[in-house]
Amino acid sequence: MEGYKHTGPIDCTRPFDTESLRGKTAIITGGANGLGEAYVRALVKAGAYVCIGDPDVEKGRKLEADLPNTKYTPCDVSKWTDQVHLFNEAISFSPTSTISYVVANAGIHRRDEVFLHNDTDEPLEPDLGTIKVNIVGTLYTTKLAMRHFIKQNGHTASPAQQDTCLVLIGSGAAFLDCPRAPQYCASKWAMRGILHSLRRTAFYYGSRVNVISPWYVKTNILSQEAFERVSRAGVQVAELEDAGECLLRVLSDTEVNGRSIFVSGRKWAARGYLGLDLEDYTGNALIVEIQEDQMKGAPVEMGLYI
Ligand SMILES: NC(=O)c1ccc[n+]([C@@H]2O[C@H](COP(=O)([O-])OP(=O)(O)OC[C@H]3O[C@@H](n4cnc5c(N)ncnc54)[C@H](O)[C@@H]3O)[C@@H](O)[C@H]2O)c1
Repeated sequence: MEGYKHTGPIDCTRPFDTESLRGKTAIITGGANGLGEAYVRALVKAGAYVCIGDPDVEKGRKLEADLPNTKYTPCDVSKWTDQVHLFNEAISFSPTSTISYVVANAGIHRRDEVFLHNDTDEPLEPDLGTIKVNIVGTLYTTKLAMRHFIKQNGHTASPAQQDTCLVLIGSGAAFLDCPRAPQYCASKWAMRGILHSLRRTAFYYGSRVNVISPWYVKTNILSQEAFERVSRAGVQVAELEDAGECLLRVLSDTEVNGRSIFVSGRKWAARGYLGLDLEDYTGNALIVEIQEDQMKGAPVEMGLYI
């Protein structure tokens, strides 16, 4: 596999074949409900084995019982030991004792105490729980995914390496202005930061890294009232099944690497997802030049560890 190169916008209307996913093993964090469940269902339908890590024991066990080739493991992503256990369980569950795909989907959205104003004499320390789950949890998932990918494929790029892919879950809040939510926005922009760093080295171990950023999708992440407000405003939301198909597209097309895909309302894309070509600066010669200088200080020839 070659180092990261921008090759123009991704054409998400192109047909794709999911046959390469059959028999592969994936981990989905936060896979018991909502978008995570949609990713699980799509992968199972494509013939993959799926390990769900989620604190919702009742729903996780139900999915394990209802779907073939699915394993549920209780897991709070903000706890390192839970995630180590999740990855070990996935290896034991995998028919090939390998993990091909990891989707760092677990994420929460709360009233943001960094934003909220308190009329108290002394300032109140804000709850940073969103950062803990969305960023710290994803960094733990990232570290463990890369550890397993490196163990499986080695440190040196070679044609014998099997495709592996880490998918980070962003949001419209990863690139749009979203008022009253500095923590959530920071946590979702962070997914793109992780992408920009890893895409320069992941190829050594045959790995791809991508971000899927969903638009509003009706799940339990926001209150019923919040979704009603969105609907009353005439905003078209995105569909769970389109998010599932988007994941299959990203995983089965090995040319999709180092990119963000937006799961959108269908008015913006017939299939409900599109490449916005956000992660490169084509057309901005100054940033392209600065990026080249940035890479001079950390050239790929130096290998993984510098
Ligand atoms: N639904 C949307 O409108 C939307 C839009 C953009 C991005 N997203 C992102 O998609 C992802 C999934 O969101 P959703 O809408 O399906 O939410 P959801 O609340 O419906 O489901 C989230 C799942 O994550 C699990 N979870 C919560 N805390 C966890 C933790 N500490 N460890 C492991 N699992 C945990 C929950 O039990 C649940 O099963 C999140 O990262 C979210 O930020 C959602």
